[in-house]
Amino acid sequence: MAALTFSPSQSAAKLTDRALDSRPRAIPLKLSFPRAARGRTAIVRSSHGSQTLVDDCSQASDVPLLTCSEAVERLQVKRRSWAGKQRYLAMYSSVVGGIVTDPAAMVIPLDDHMVHRGHGVFDTAAIMDGHLYELNQHLDRIIRSAFMAKISLPFDRESIRGILIQTVSASQCRKGSLRGVKVVTSSVPIKPPQFATMKSVNYLPNALSKMEAEENSAYAAIWLDNEGFIAEGPNMNVAFVTKEKELLMPHFDKILSGCTAKRVLTIAEALADEGKLLQGIKLGNVTVEEGKAAEEMMLIGSGVLVRSVVQWDEQVIGDGKEGPVTQTLLNAIIEDMKSGPSTVRTPVPY
Ligand SMILES: Cc1ncc(COP(=O)(O)O)c(C=O)c1O
Repeated sequence: MAALTFSPSQSAAKLTDRALDSRPRAIPLKLSFPRAARGRTAIVRSSHGSQTLVDDCSQASDVPLLTCSEAVERLQVKRRSWAGKQRYLAMYSSVVGGIVTDPAAMVIPLDDHMVHRGHGVFDTAAIMDGHLYELNQHLDRIIRSAFMAKISLPFDRESIRGILIQTVSASQCRKGSLRGVKVVTSSVPIKPPQFATMKSVNYLPNALSKMEAEENSAYAAIWLDNEGFIAEGPNMNVAFVTKEKELLMPHFDKILSGCTAKRVLTIAEALADEGKLLQGIKLGNVTVEEGKAAEEMMLIGSGVLVRSVVQWDEQVIGDGKEGPVTQTLLNAIIEDMKSGPSTVRTPVPY
């Protein structure tokens, strides 16, 4: 996995590598724009309210007061104990004005509003065979998200693009990502459309929804919208193949408009034109009944690419195996990532 963070006060690009399975891998690249801090927070309170920890002499005397270099040294020691579990490979920081690959140096200022107010935006793109996949589309979306979140960009688009490519290059990361999983219906409320259509760092509902899935031995939890129609997963879109061989996808007016889902739609249209595996494509409201009765269900996103869902709650989907349309779309996306047009593949000079 790979990640980038920007703000007028700081920016960062982080690249991570996570072993998932034996499929050709795509490493998502994360971009984020935290909002610059307006003020400083220096109050330390106990959870009991009025009693502050810093006022308590007996506790404070046990806590060492560290110099910056001592703190960095401790960070390095701590990070060394994570050896082999390191998910972030490189990070660009506008605070230090460069790229770092030592995880101890991958830090975000505490007084940045992204840290304690969740005012920031981010994005995730994949890396395949030394190419950033759909970089321009992800840049378009993060710029749109930043505008919606009223975050002014620290750099112009071309500079951000350049920083990303250089950060990927520094990470030496060439490939990365993810297959039939179970999903559950999320009991965590879905974000209202104004926030769900923007990729901000307010992913607490998404994180809780993902944890709910894991607690139920599932891969993801699926949100329904306020009218009860199928929406999306915590970090992926969903699609279905009906018995009539139609690809059904919830429209993007209340959910995140997925770069991968849109690319899948383009590829699926070509398949439908051939009339072999698919007869047509429908973007609109999808009911839970339609979804659960589908022949195939799939999760779609930069991280999962196209991943078959074989069970939703207690309902086995289709014959409980990865279906032919899901398989074909996954292979087509991998092919597109490896040898698609230059509009979706940005080479990284290592
Ligand atoms: C809520 C949500 N929906 C859908 C997606 C899929 O978007 P993309 O294909 O651009 O990764 C994501 C990606 O992280 C997401 O966070």
